Amino acid sequence: MLKFDYRNCDASVIGLENGLVLVQEFADYKTQIAEIISDLNKRKDKPGQFLQWMNLGYSEETAWYVKEFAALVEGRFDNILVLGMGGSALGGIAVSEALLTPYWNFLTKEERNGYPRIFFLDNIDPDSMNGLFNILDLKKTLVNVITKSGDTAEIMSQFMVVKDRLEKELGDDYRKNIVATTDKKVGILRQISEQEGYKTFVIPDDVGGRFSVFSAVGLLPFALVGIDIDEITNGIKDMDLALKNTDINENIAAQNALIHYLMDTKKGKNLSVMMPYSSRLKYISDWFVQLWSESLGKEFDLQGNKVNIGPTPLKALGVTDQHSQIQLYNEGPNDKLINFIRVENFDTTLEIPKIFEYTGIGYLGGNTINNLLNAEADSTKVALADYQRPTVTLTIPKIDGYHIAQLLYMLEVQTAIAGALYNVNAFDQPGVEQAKNYTYALMGRAGYEDSAQTLQQKMSIV
Ligand code: PA5
Repeated sequence: MLKFDYRNCDASVIGLENGLVLVQEFADYKTQIAEIISDLNKRKDKPGQFLQWMNLGYSEETAWYVKEFAALVEGRFDNILVLGMGGSALGGIAVSEALLTPYWNFLTKEERNGYPRIFFLDNIDPDSMNGLFNILDLKKTLVNVITKSGDTAEIMSQFMVVKDRLEKELGDDYRKNIVATTDKKVGILRQISEQEGYKTFVIPDDVGGRFSVFSAVGLLPFALVGIDIDEITNGIKDMDLALKNTDINENIAAQNALIHYLMDTKKGKNLSVMMPYSSRLKYISDWFVQLWSESLGKEFDLQGNKVNIGPTPLKALGVTDQHSQIQLYNEGPNDKLINFIRVENFDTTLEIPKIFEYTGIGYLGGNTINNLLNAEADSTKVALADYQRPTVTLTIPKIDGYHIAQLLYMLEVQTAIAGALYNVNAFDQPGVEQAKNYTYALMGRAGYEDSAQTLQQKMSIV
């Protein structure tokens, strides 16, 4: 299981001005935390609560359909192209980067055990899109378009470009190269899929984009590139069981949620840095940044009072950002809580040869890159503590589907608990919708004429 170490947030280590007396805090919040956990588990099956993500690990049906489709198309495609934004893409990127062999898309088909390359188009940049189309043989590409609403302008414009190209290259057969993941009933992509006869997968009701990685949104691309999705669902289920424990002393998601909340509200540490010490885990920070920002950054609390609250997540990579951000983290404003993610056992070992023994770098020889990386994580943590900077450390035994699923699911539950502590709705995103609507207006979508007018006025004032 995942291990969680919060000692370097305690006042006994970093002093009372910046640290928390955690034994006392855990005792003070024991009842509230227990109520929050019970409440989440009670409400998770009720429609409209947006807690269906807590059930995704148990959806044998989704896992079965995903595996069946992956088996059906096995060997047919050289590339998977995922079209999606935000919640439709970030989880997929994070998990596939973690679990696939590094530089997967550069490996030969044999080295990939026959599985396809995978590309995520999570932006609309004409140069990078054209660049990708120049290297992709669309005839050998399975396009997975993912959108819950079915009408996000960026995703649907990507899709329109790709569909047109596929049709021109493949004629009527182009449909076999498209699979849509969307709402089961509503939305333009659902409508198009039915008209055109695309294979579809469903994003269940009450699963927000940023909590959707373990639905078909993530599981389908994972299965298509040979990631074992049973390992993933086993990881979620075991973590879910552990996080059902209502005792804060036993529940790591509750501990980290409370620590973040108190560090922000009592100690002025509003910035939360996600810093994995593993290149393969780099994109987990991007996924976490969206999860934490969209869930907790809110204008109103649950009673409708204007609060404008929310911690700001930042991403860093160990050791890379030791040489970029750590100066600021050690000596700048003491306003951050740093989350280290540490890997106990890497898949491979890389020895540093015993050369240049007569020089000052001789001590490195005979050691391993593995030890150096973890030694750097430990020393950075200690240095931060010397400067009275709080850190927590999440340790995973190894990078595999089981533990990555545990990590992501734990962070989702942590976010839900933090939402309850901040007293906000962690499952809506009105601030995202506002800009989406303005884009529709600006691009001339029918029904958005009034917004278009307001927008034109505001833009001319600016
Ligand atoms: O987390 C979210 O809700 C967003 O990031 C959405 O996933 C993103 O905006 C894409 O939305 P949709 O899936 O409706 O196209």
